[in-house]
Amino acid sequence: MSARARNAGPLLIRNGRVIDPASGTDGVQDVLIEDGTITRVAATLPLPEQADVVDATGKIVCPGFIDIHVHLREPGHEYKETVATGTRAAAAGGFTAVCCMANTDPVNDNGAVTDYILAKARTEGAVRVYPIGAVTRGLRGEALAELAELAEAGCVAFSDDGKCVMNAALYRHAMEYVLPFGVPVISHAEDTHLARGTSMHEGVVSTELGLAGAPAAAEDVMVARDILLAELTGAHVHIAHLSTAGAVRLVREGKARGVRVTAEVTPHHLVLTEDAVRTYDPNTKMAPPLRSKRDREALVEGLLDGTIDCIATDHAPHALSEKEGEYDQAAFGIVGLETAVAILLDRLVRPGHVPLATLVARMTRDPARLLNLPGGRLTAGAPADLTLLDLDVEHAVEPARFRSKSRNTPFGGWTLRGAPWMTIVGGRVVSP
Ligand code: DOR
Ligand code: ZN
Repeated sequence: MSARARNAGPLLIRNGRVIDPASGTDGVQDVLIEDGTITRVAATLPLPEQADVVDATGKIVCPGFIDIHVHLREPGHEYKETVATGTRAAAAGGFTAVCCMANTDPVNDNGAVTDYILAKARTEGAVRVYPIGAVTRGLRGEALAELAELAEAGCVAFSDDGKCVMNAALYRHAMEYVLPFGVPVISHAEDTHLARGTSMHEGVVSTELGLAGAPAAAEDVMVARDILLAELTGAHVHIAHLSTAGAVRLVREGKARGVRVTAEVTPHHLVLTEDAVRTYDPNTKMAPPLRSKRDREALVEGLLDGTIDCIATDHAPHALSEKEGEYDQAAFGIVGLETAVAILLDRLVRPGHVPLATLVARMTRDPARLLNLPGGRLTAGAPADLTLLDLDVEHAVEPARFRSKSRNTPFGGWTLRGAPWMTIVGGRVVSP
């Protein structure tokens, strides 16, 4: 298939089960791709001259999966990840587009940094890359970044992710400022003071383990604030990595009141709880932390009823030296691009907790809609970004074989059933 990546003529994907939530399609169809665009979707299509064929019999054919929350670490932390390695990890994990957070070095708080990331993506990227600009200069929470310049350069949202903008007046101004750009502010909702010095969720387990915990309220108070600020300003606020039952309830109530609030959840918060920290494996340490069983259940419920709009990995690569040793000293975050789809298929879809079509919707149509991105649908005229799944394959998680530069995952050694089978971007096969 690598030959195809270099020379992309027409491509016919035959006989796969097409699941496209955007058009309500679920059935066996052929899909024709020409010049980087989906040109026909129908029960049986003739094979055009010189077309390549993918026999997708028994496979699931979806719009390309979109991950709106990843850390590509370039510029500045290339020892953890680069645009080249991060997008290869994305392709291997079934993602055709990623949005990258601004906590690079230098911070993506001005148009020159956005230009740099986009230039890297054009020359070295395996999938589409949409940068997210910083809300505040240097992520310091003191003065607004060059928001207009960032929007002009192509940023699809604004976020200080990794840090919470604690100054509500400044955050209000950011929301008012970006309103005419039609893009959301993405909130890392974590009260700095309540979370300071903690490395896991506050509860019985943190007490047993002797680790300092952050209460669920550290998230809930900020989600409440951000919903109120969205109501005040009329802006769209998107809450990153929702992790508590309280936050799910607040977002549900906010939506019911007509506030423009949306939310995402990570695969790890959907399948793991604070119990995983009992191993003292620093690969169970992230911000926000793994929460209680009740929180996890509320997140699945929120995903099902649409309170939570999409799944995003928060792919946060770190070097081994930053993720070994004492738990409370380790860096926050885990890689996610190469495990997300298999984890979700095996742990949520296979046992019947989440219908496959809902999972696909939350990873295609819904993130595309949320950030106004191209793609997210599998119909004639759409960009030829596709993710093909094999629901039956046994998949062993082997961090040593990741395309990512980093291996910080709590899922190493897990055997999962179901995995991405092929990833196509603009009509080119980018994985396997
Ligand atoms: O665990 C995390 N790691 N959460 C964040 O919000 C930031 C991220 C990182 O950049 O490593
Ligand atoms: Zn993040």
